[in-house]
Amino acid sequence: MIHTTLMKTLGIRHPVILAPMGGVSGGRLAAAVSNAGGLGLVGGGYGDPAWLDTELAIAAKAATQPWGVGLITWTANQQRVEQCLRYGPAAFMLSFGDPRPYARAIKAAGCALICQVQDLAGALLARDAGADIVVAQGTEAGGHGGLRSTFPLVPAVVDAVAPIPVAAAGGIADGRGLAAALMLGAQAALIGTRFYACSEALGSDEAKRRIAAGHGDETVRTRVFDIVRGYDWPAPYTGRALRNDFLQRWHEHEPELQTQAAALRDPFLSAAALGDCDTAMVWAGEAIDLIHDIPSAASLLASIVAQAESQIRQAHAALAL
Ligand SMILES: Cc1cc2nc3c(=O)[nH]c(=O)nc-3n(C[C@H](O)[C@H](O)[C@H](O)COP(=O)(O)O)c2cc1C
Repeated sequence: MIHTTLMKTLGIRHPVILAPMGGVSGGRLAAAVSNAGGLGLVGGGYGDPAWLDTELAIAAKAATQPWGVGLITWTANQQRVEQCLRYGPAAFMLSFGDPRPYARAIKAAGCALICQVQDLAGALLARDAGADIVVAQGTEAGGHGGLRSTFPLVPAVVDAVAPIPVAAAGGIADGRGLAAALMLGAQAALIGTRFYACSEALGSDEAKRRIAAGHGDETVRTRVFDIVRGYDWPAPYTGRALRNDFLQRWHEHEPELQTQAAALRDPFLSAAALGDCDTAMVWAGEAIDLIHDIPSAASLLASIVAQAESQIRQAHAALAL
């Protein structure tokens, strides 16, 4: 068994955290990950209050182990944070922006504050905000993220925020990635894309099928889907998505898209609601090369942990030779 301080802080049995993927990590998936020994985080995304009420109630009811929630910081507000806290999460993740305005309320509620960061400046801000855990997110990640790569970023953040425990995110989809993250000094992996292709994840069957069939070469960081949806994401954040017809048409034509976005928005949103993945985005990270099936969250978590333990044993045996 792997044991880390981070696991103790969160009260979990395995060093795996489900990323709070907006609209994908619903209450059922979060509870499934938590009940299997990881930490499941409900993906509150942009903070739709009705969605949050539905999914947080599901998580609170179904989880028998610690679970949590995540919000996109630059779109959050006190009301939304308090709404989440009323459901009694054990952990609260803030990502993409300054966590300080919400840190006090989260910690006063007895919640572990998890801050996801994309660079060293963000890591120091998280430390100063009182983060209990810092997630170092590399650009390999699916969905929104920054520019730095997981391999050099993780140990740099570990050094910068010590002794605060760090989790690694971005490009981790199996036990080899988890073992590598631990070798970099991280105490857990925060995993998104791999859990998207999971039976309990929200999201269309077609999106999951594309993730299971896709390759990392076909993912790209882009602002196209934010522009068409009218989300004014601050620099340097872009979203990593699988290439599809819509992305093919507009990627590197962003100024032209800006001029047409208002007219394209309703048809785009309708296509997204129908699960049309030729138009709607499928956020996915570079590690999709390693994803070939759509298992349950519990069996996936068990296989990632078992493979990581086996990798660590093999490394140990190699050293003994
Ligand atoms: C479909 C999807 C949606 C995401 N939505 C969010 C989000 O709402 N908030 C957030 O903090 N991170 C979000 N992320 C990023 C994750 O927190 C995490 O950093 C990333 O999934 C890790 O990389 P991986 O996808 O390679 O595992 C999302 C990722 C994906 C794949």
